[in-house]
Amino acid sequence: MTTTRGLRDREGPITMLTAYDAPTAAVVDEAGIDVVLVGDSMGNATMGYDSTLPVTMADVASRTGAVARAVDDALVVADMPFLSFGVDEAESVRNAGELLKEADADAVKIESGPHTVETTRRMVDVGIPVMGHLGLTPQHVNRLGGYTRQGTDSDAAAEILELARDHEAAGAFSLVLEHVPANLAANITEAIDIPTIGIGAGPDCDGQVLVINDVIGLGEWSPPFSEQFGDVRGEMERAVSKYRDAVESGAFPAEEHSHVEEGVDDVY
Ligand code: KIV
Repeated sequence: MTTTRGLRDREGPITMLTAYDAPTAAVVDEAGIDVVLVGDSMGNATMGYDSTLPVTMADVASRTGAVARAVDDALVVADMPFLSFGVDEAESVRNAGELLKEADADAVKIESGPHTVETTRRMVDVGIPVMGHLGLTPQHVNRLGGYTRQGTDSDAAAEILELARDHEAAGAFSLVLEHVPANLAANITEAIDIPTIGIGAGPDCDGQVLVINDVIGLGEWSPPFSEQFGDVRGEMERAVSKYRDAVESGAFPAEEHSHVEEGVDDVY
């Protein structure tokens, strides 16, 4: 069983992937991935939204439950959706607690900034393990003006480093670093003791995370820092076309897919 403490002591790079449903989570877990993130990227990846902003607590809770039921070994981290934290301190802690208590998450992730240092401390104080998330935080897309690189000048880089230190001091057990320069991510990884997990942050983080749709080649598009390691979309297209052809030609269903019962011939 992967634990938040175990991640810190792990030899070699930490592997993390998103999953939003039970069958996918089972595959990810059986492959030996350390952390399954029930990311709010479900908004784009599975729900047809063009951002993560519409994703609700109910969406994350229901999918976290499905993932947690399928996972035996990996750490299950539930991503707190837009406005479920950061508005009211007590409500933030209660929402995070609900994801552990009712959806069986092991930890929560929050997109972080100066406003989440105290929130992290409060969550950790009541027993909720928190993974921070710095750099590109997609819930801020409207303020940032797009899904752009972050920490690209020395002031912005220094601010991210300081926030990393502040979240470590507040008790976060790990930090995601998204779309920041590889040398900044390397410096942060060196500067703090909790593991950094990079996405578009170069090779020197303590671990790497990607969105499952990108890794298996399910989406139509994937970001430049990602890589498709499979062609699941192509495989689905082939299977669905074969099914359509079989039905249209009458080849499916065949005799072995049907059953005939005596005594029902005369029922009209
Ligand atoms: O929601 C998500 O999938 C994430 C990862 C990209 C880190 O936040």
